Amino acid sequence: MPLRHFLRDDDLTHDEQALVLSRAARIKAAPFTDRTLVGPEVVAVLFDKQTLRTQLSFSAAIAHLGGYPMVVDGKLAQVGVRESIADVARVMGREAVAIVWRTYGQDRIEEMAAYAQVPVINALTDDFHPCQILADLMTVQEHRGDLPGKTLAYLGDGANNMAHSYLLGSALAGMHVRVATPADHQPKPEILARAEELAAAHGGSVLITDDPVAAVADADAVATDTWVSMGQEKEKDRRRGETSPFARFQVTTELMGHADPEAVFLHCLPAYRGYEVTAEVIDGPQSVVWDESENRLHAQKAILSWLVEQHRAGEQP
Ligand code: CP
Repeated sequence: MPLRHFLRDDDLTHDEQALVLSRAARIKAAPFTDRTLVGPEVVAVLFDKQTLRTQLSFSAAIAHLGGYPMVVDGKLAQVGVRESIADVARVMGREAVAIVWRTYGQDRIEEMAAYAQVPVINALTDDFHPCQILADLMTVQEHRGDLPGKTLAYLGDGANNMAHSYLLGSALAGMHVRVATPADHQPKPEILARAEELAAAHGGSVLITDDPVAAVADADAVATDTWVSMGQEKEKDRRRGETSPFARFQVTTELMGHADPEAVFLHCLPAYRGYEVTAEVIDGPQSVVWDESENRLHAQKAILSWLVEQHRAGEQP
């Protein structure tokens, strides 16, 4: 059995994604019943970029599973600078049963996975944020029921990691996914093509538009993200200034009025009220962002324990 990783949303099949989401729901209902990491087994958790939720939720997830979260500061480890990614992977793979990494290029985490010999989980790269999307899908399922056939609208920067992961993860789930973004912030063509392929295979659809109202019309879930992703700090004035290309895509109460009356509002956080979303929406009755944040814990326990189980099964003689 090949070693499995979770580097991008479509590393799971449709059925595996559903299985991981149902495992997450079971874990949420009985938080300390899954003890896959008892020992405690070590999971290495590396951060090359800022974090609050991801460090917190992975640390808690690993502890709940009976393991030990070995959190490594990327500024100290300097992966790929002080030594090669391959050598870091070889070292960590001897001491940890899994590696969780937040880093920059997708090529970096792919190289880690190529050499680690244990499952590697993407805790955010420039291209994808697949653990966040598992938590988001879990949240939509909790509030709106079965995912296939549901519509998720994302507004804002169509070229960022959240847009890419919403495209792949929602299409994989058989949902209708719509991205409203300016013409010069389109998703990467190969990721869009993959999302269209997944949607066609699983009964969903993909729409990319510059019309925010068309995107949210009758949607079951409306999502946005910061207009200034990590690594884009130098572009802050252009992205958040008075002439921001994203200003038309702000999620307001008026815009939410075009969605299904029961629609939920999602934001991976941290949020910037008055920019990508108004305070009235994120702090209002349709917002499920605190459930979404909590579900990082349950979804990550599910994907981590499932991957470790898969690896152990593959090592059986
Ligand atoms: N949503 C998310 O990944 O949060 P952090 O950047 O705080 O980890």
